[in-house]
Amino acid sequence: MLRENIADLSKFVQPDRVRKEVYTDPAVFELEMERIHERVWIYCGHESQVRNPGAYYTVQIGRQPMFMVRGTDGKVSVLYNRCPHRGAMICADRHGNTGEFFRCSYHAWTFQHDGTLRNIPMMESGYAGTRWGRDNPDCNIKRAARVESYRGFVFASLAQDGPGLAEFLGAARIAFDDMCDRAPAGEVEVVPNCFRVIQNSNWKIFLENQLDALHPSVTHQSTGRAARDVEVQIEKRTGKAPLSYHMLSAFSTVTIDKWDNFQTINYPYGHCILTGYMGLRPQDPDTLEYERVLAKAYGEKRKEEILTTDIHHVLLYPGLSVQSPLQQLRAVRPLGVDKTLTEIWHFRLKGAPEPIYRRALAYYNLVNSPATLINADDLENFWKCHQGLSSDGGDWVSFHRHFGSDVEKGGAVESAPGKGTSEAPMRNQMKAWAQFMSEER
Ligand code: FES
Ligand SMILES: [Fe+2]
Repeated sequence: MLRENIADLSKFVQPDRVRKEVYTDPAVFELEMERIHERVWIYCGHESQVRNPGAYYTVQIGRQPMFMVRGTDGKVSVLYNRCPHRGAMICADRHGNTGEFFRCSYHAWTFQHDGTLRNIPMMESGYAGTRWGRDNPDCNIKRAARVESYRGFVFASLAQDGPGLAEFLGAARIAFDDMCDRAPAGEVEVVPNCFRVIQNSNWKIFLENQLDALHPSVTHQSTGRAARDVEVQIEKRTGKAPLSYHMLSAFSTVTIDKWDNFQTINYPYGHCILTGYMGLRPQDPDTLEYERVLAKAYGEKRKEEILTTDIHHVLLYPGLSVQSPLQQLRAVRPLGVDKTLTEIWHFRLKGAPEPIYRRALAYYNLVNSPATLINADDLENFWKCHQGLSSDGGDWVSFHRHFGSDVEKGGAVESAPGKGTSEAPMRNQMKAWAQFMSEER
């Protein structure tokens, strides 16, 4: 029914432009949930969110309410948040600890941490002779078809088949390597809790913005200039401006031609890396102490390799934007064709000195939190784009910037030298989108 309603999708996506309906048609959205979000690997959360047996954390995958839970054996399962009896949600709280087992609040069916039925009140007398009973797998809470984790980051796929997680992530898994390697202990732990933002715009508009190197010096210019004014005043008064102001004022000094020196590397399945180091290696005592701890853990040579990893941002299609040098990520949860939830998570480098965490936290609050002007600048654009695309003012979205100049290299597509503001990441995302959407199973 749905499929017949949608015009031939191949006409919606061309290498250099995309039809507006891709962003605004509710039928397209439903098909996206079916063929993309409820099929490919979606980020659920970090293992440290469910540290102890019985700990659970709810998460939305496509249209499905799910939760991840730690078993007594230490294994993390991802289950549908639905009781097999009459359908009540098992976990109503966003997160918590269920103790030794789950107990449905409606009629007290109980389940093991992996979803297996444990008991039904008066099961023998109540269900004798029916098809319902311990041996019927339908009496268990349904599990995600596949669950895998990479360096502590848990993903689930609701489809039985498809590439494994490592193959799906491909070279873009460097997002997690870069984040974890920067920790002297080689791993990170989540900072509870995350920020949640609901945007009144399509989920793809957010993702396209993540590696859009063209927009920061325009969109965030006013914020950068305001921060610069205050920075200068403080500097005059005290002789030294705090780093936090510099984090914001940088948006007014890095102009488009400088962003062109960055590069995007685009991979299969829509993933992409934006290179460019953020100058987070000042020579202050805190950084020097961190470098000393890191060298002790890894040796001098490896420490240098880790600290010079040239990554600004990694996009893992279709739902994750990772800023590994600052230990943060944003998970995208589409709620409707014009409504998108983003979860903004922050992580702590295990074994790193406290001031390094404080600095990353300051950036998290200043640049990516709902309170910051930077985020507000972006959100306004997203909303404006969705409004404009819903109008009859035009049929196409343009991704022509530096189209034709991208360089194919070893299975990836790179923006050409000096053309870092190429719209190659958007073209790559839509190429993957069209591929996913055409796969009927
Ligand atoms: S709905 Fe869960 S026990 Fe009845
Ligand atoms: Fe932005």
